[in-house]
Amino acid sequence: MPFYVTTPIYYVNGEPHLGHAYTTIAADVLARHMRQRGEEVFFLTGTDEHGEPVALAAEKQGMTPRELADKNAERFKAVSKLVNATNDFFIRTSDPRHAEKVQEVLQRVYDAGHVYQGTYEGFYCPRCADFKSEAELIEGNKCPIHLIELEREKEDNWFFRLSAFQEPLERMFEERPDWVIPRNRYNEALAFIRQGLNDISLTRARISWGVSVPWDEDQVFYVWFDALLNYYTALSFARDGEDLTDRFWPASVHVMAKDILKFHTVFWPALLMAADIELPERDFVHGYLLMDEHKMSKSLGNVVDPFKIVELYGADALRYYLLREVSFGQDGSISTEGFERRYTSDLANEYGNLASRSLAMIAKYRDGTVPDAEAPSEIVAAFAEAPARVVERFDGVELTAALEEIWSLVRRLNAFVQEEEPWQLVKDETQSDRLDSALYTLAEGLRVLSLLLHPFMPDATTKLLRALGQDDTTLRTARFGSVGGGARCAALEPLFPRVEAAAD
Ligand code: MSP
Repeated sequence: MPFYVTTPIYYVNGEPHLGHAYTTIAADVLARHMRQRGEEVFFLTGTDEHGEPVALAAEKQGMTPRELADKNAERFKAVSKLVNATNDFFIRTSDPRHAEKVQEVLQRVYDAGHVYQGTYEGFYCPRCADFKSEAELIEGNKCPIHLIELEREKEDNWFFRLSAFQEPLERMFEERPDWVIPRNRYNEALAFIRQGLNDISLTRARISWGVSVPWDEDQVFYVWFDALLNYYTALSFARDGEDLTDRFWPASVHVMAKDILKFHTVFWPALLMAADIELPERDFVHGYLLMDEHKMSKSLGNVVDPFKIVELYGADALRYYLLREVSFGQDGSISTEGFERRYTSDLANEYGNLASRSLAMIAKYRDGTVPDAEAPSEIVAAFAEAPARVVERFDGVELTAALEEIWSLVRRLNAFVQEEEPWQLVKDETQSDRLDSALYTLAEGLRVLSLLLHPFMPDATTKLLRALGQDDTTLRTARFGSVGGGARCAALEPLFPRVEAAAD
């Protein structure tokens, strides 16, 4: 089964921050894990470049929308690279090939009778590019996200008959309990539908920075419809001369935060139904990264620059920290102190040190060759169920839980070294077999857990696996005991050096 995973496409009206990097990292971890399982994977990310927020930001900076989009799309691409994301394509919605496909699909929706002309009146937030119902506003008619006072706007445009999809959507939710995960987000989306769906405007008359409407050249499509369609259009032009749609559509999972739940879990499936396109399999909705209790966001100004963190600590540490510290699916606070704590205790001490010590002992006591020996049954047992459990966690997109499973193996091996004390065994000739067994157990344990950890920390695990004489990073051999002794080990630089040293 091919696996197609996406991130939201990020707005180019601002610079990327750690919140964007977070979703990209999570999607990448999933993509890498599925590749390890031998699946055919397509991983898409990109930028959302049309609409009023971008047009306004460009005007403020004295640029054209395209100039601003070109500049910031490069920044978002750089973030993908920075965090080691293996996206197969980076879509930009200002790409004419995207626009053409958007027109084709929405023309179909129009032809099928799901679109009509009308007048919209209501509170409008230009920063969200979204009309807000009165119930959504906070005191003083303010946008709950941007905290700016909103004006009532009136506009003639084309409407999408969303209300007609109320029942089909309710039925779909019933038939597909996995459509939105975690469960609380599923309930939230369903409650939104049940409270009654109003038709929504599909087009905008006031702006020109967008995909023009084929049946009314004075209008452009509302940026959200143009944006959502990226998941579908990208497949048609991501590979020159090849259309990947049949191979990868429907998407396996759209990953996003809860801010855009309504668009993905309600509007998007309705639009696809109207266009007679198969629905994606699942939406995974994660929580917010918080700084001092508040959502990290450009409008609040409490953003962390991922470039600075990666420069100091490396991409692996950032990937690990975000997915370990914040239970994936829930909101969670992050901080520099918390980051440094985990870097030192989990990565440098528990994992990095275990690796260096084990390799150093194999080098010193057995001349760099992993002994051919049996591992103690309690270690074999501790590792026996772990790979299957990790795979199961991945199937549920429970990334933090997967990491916790793996980390219990790291801790188990650390306890094992302390119990066995190979540095004492080596002093006693009669304990030679036991020393062989201890060293084999460490090498084999490190190998298996590094394979499981590989999607989270691709660099460190690849280095360690190589030092253990192993090239295979797939999950084929992620079973304790599937590799015997005899591998030649190499020296390993500290995987997570002290940060002062890294910063030099
Ligand atoms: N352009 C739309 C999405 C269109 S998708 C068809 C958009 N862009 S955005 O730049 O605002 O990105 C929002 C997404 O960025 C969130 O859904 C989430 O994936 C990520 N995050 C931004 N800030 C974040 C946090 N503070 N915490 C967690 N995720 C964060 O909405």
